[in-house]
Amino acid sequence: TTDPLVIFTPSGKRGRFPAGTPVLTAARQLGVDLDSVCGGRGICSKCQVTPSYGEFPKHGVTVEKDALNEFNAVEQRYDDKRGLKPGRRLGCQATVQGDIVIDVPAESQVHKQVVRKAATARAITMDPATRLFLVDVEEPDMHEPTGDFERLKTALKAQWNIEGLTAPLPVLSRLQPALRKGDWQVTVAVHHDHTGSAPRLIDVWPGYYEGGLYGLAIDLGSTTIAAHLCDLVTGEVKASSGIMNPQIRFGEDLMSRVSYVMMNPGGDVEMTGAVRDALNELAKSIAEEAEIDPRAVVEATFVCNPVMHHLLLGIDPVELGQAPFALATSSSVSLDAAELDLSALNAAARVYILPCIAGHVGADAAAVALSEEPQKSDDLMLVVDVGTNAEILLGNKDRVLACSSPTGPAFEGAQISSGQRAAPGAIERVEIDPATKEPRFRVIGSDLWSDEDGFDAATATTGITGICGSGIIEAVAEMRMAGLLDPSGLIGSAEQTGTPRCEPEGRTHSYLIFDGSADGGPRITVTQGDIRAIQLAKSALYAGARLLMDQMGVDTVDRVVLAGAFGAHISPKHAMVLGMIPDAPLDKVTSAGNAAGTGARIALCSLAARSEIETVVGNIHKVETAVEPKFQEHFVNANAIPHATDPFPELAQ
Ligand code: FES
Repeated sequence: TTDPLVIFTPSGKRGRFPAGTPVLTAARQLGVDLDSVCGGRGICSKCQVTPSYGEFPKHGVTVEKDALNEFNAVEQRYDDKRGLKPGRRLGCQATVQGDIVIDVPAESQVHKQVVRKAATARAITMDPATRLFLVDVEEPDMHEPTGDFERLKTALKAQWNIEGLTAPLPVLSRLQPALRKGDWQVTVAVHHDHTGSAPRLIDVWPGYYEGGLYGLAIDLGSTTIAAHLCDLVTGEVKASSGIMNPQIRFGEDLMSRVSYVMMNPGGDVEMTGAVRDALNELAKSIAEEAEIDPRAVVEATFVCNPVMHHLLLGIDPVELGQAPFALATSSSVSLDAAELDLSALNAAARVYILPCIAGHVGADAAAVALSEEPQKSDDLMLVVDVGTNAEILLGNKDRVLACSSPTGPAFEGAQISSGQRAAPGAIERVEIDPATKEPRFRVIGSDLWSDEDGFDAATATTGITGICGSGIIEAVAEMRMAGLLDPSGLIGSAEQTGTPRCEPEGRTHSYLIFDGSADGGPRITVTQGDIRAIQLAKSALYAGARLLMDQMGVDTVDRVVLAGAFGAHISPKHAMVLGMIPDAPLDKVTSAGNAAGTGARIALCSLAARSEIETVVGNIHKVETAVEPKFQEHFVNANAIPHATDPFPELAQ
């Protein structure tokens, strides 16, 4: 007689196994992705599968009712205590008795697909560096003296085929009490990445550890630091948060921070300390918000521009301030969180910093490439990540160019009279009626527009505090469309525009969006100075994009992706009215949210993605805006709204 046929779905993998083979064993032998933390001890329930019964003409089998064994004692105990969902079996306890079709549900796969929010974005396949394993360790024996760690190593090799484990000091000190408390059974978190270095013990818990493992994906910007706290098993984002980068007090943009170091010996040490303190504060608050023990946060990935990169690592950034803009290292960096003084995570947590493209084009640009994938596109894509330093990528599957452009912090709400970081209370959307010149707006933390019923109640908890980057972009574009601004960016007077909202301010005018002064709140206006700051920022952005188009030898692009860590999303229409981006059909302009942050998240969840971006970065050709004479010319012409010389045919329609 032939052995029973086992068919796994959705993979379609199949094979014959002797009656009595556990489903988990069959899955392993066939290379089916079925999870297990307890190694088949019936404790973790990660191995759950759903058997199907009946006729399967497609597979050529009929599955009888008794194709699997009845519940054994272990599975019965698990079902009594925790309850298995109807139809589910524990793959490690269910044994094959006859031909069978077995479905592996998504949650039982290690390499599960996590769907990203944006409609156009690909899914992330989970492939985390740190995973949990339950092990039984031999008790010590006076006559054969070996250390507890050495016996753990032997057990991991025998039970999980993990070889050459190393352990940093903080974990070693936890090992002995955990082993004894767990009666020689412990759960270990092991970090094993794509770099070929030995697996590391990250933490150890007595018995079966029921908690999760988490990681932080951090976009370290010049003005804003944004972080996602992610579940390393499901890929789910548990909390997101941001704070201002405290290095702002040493200089608003990158070059002023580099000059600060040049003028003040030890300035780099000060700035490194400031940003590391802020990262600890952010890590602490985000874990609190998600109600997660900081000890469960075992990894962090960083994306940042080269100056932030060096200052995070404690490397003097002075070489980045002068040609030829040499990086200390452009490769990805893997290190202990403790080496960066990140004490608000697990004591043995690991950090991965994405590779940099070049001296002015950092790991943040690499992260944008990982997230938006111009290198895989048939269309010619322009990807613009807007921040204090804009990262710009132009290309398709044949060739990708990259540059960064010093836009300054205006797009993040800094240098704007009523500006603020994108946080509850900030105005993020603005519309101005072209006939009445009256504004309506929406505030972060409320779903209602300012002229809708119930608006006050909805914002009562935070009040209205200022205007953020996406709000100021919309405000300036709306002012232009409502005729409050001329093409050179000058705000008209009340007489010229026909609205008292255009108030005199010194020798210029400003436009009043919201007046809360009667209730002790702020007066939020857009001043002439604000318009000038936005003009400078958008000209730099546009000039960078144009420069890449020159190098590529094109006048138009097929698609534009707008990304930025600030605000919810940048409105494509307003970005184009403002002339931030070159003319393109509006339906080909999409908004991607924080693409650099998403890239950090992908790298956090997937070792395959880390390998991929390390290869991709080597093929991206960088263009240096700082030494390119054409940049200045493009910059001057881009000052007008939308532009002095370049046509905007799509906008005219
Ligand atoms: Fe842990 Fe089956 S492998 S319960």
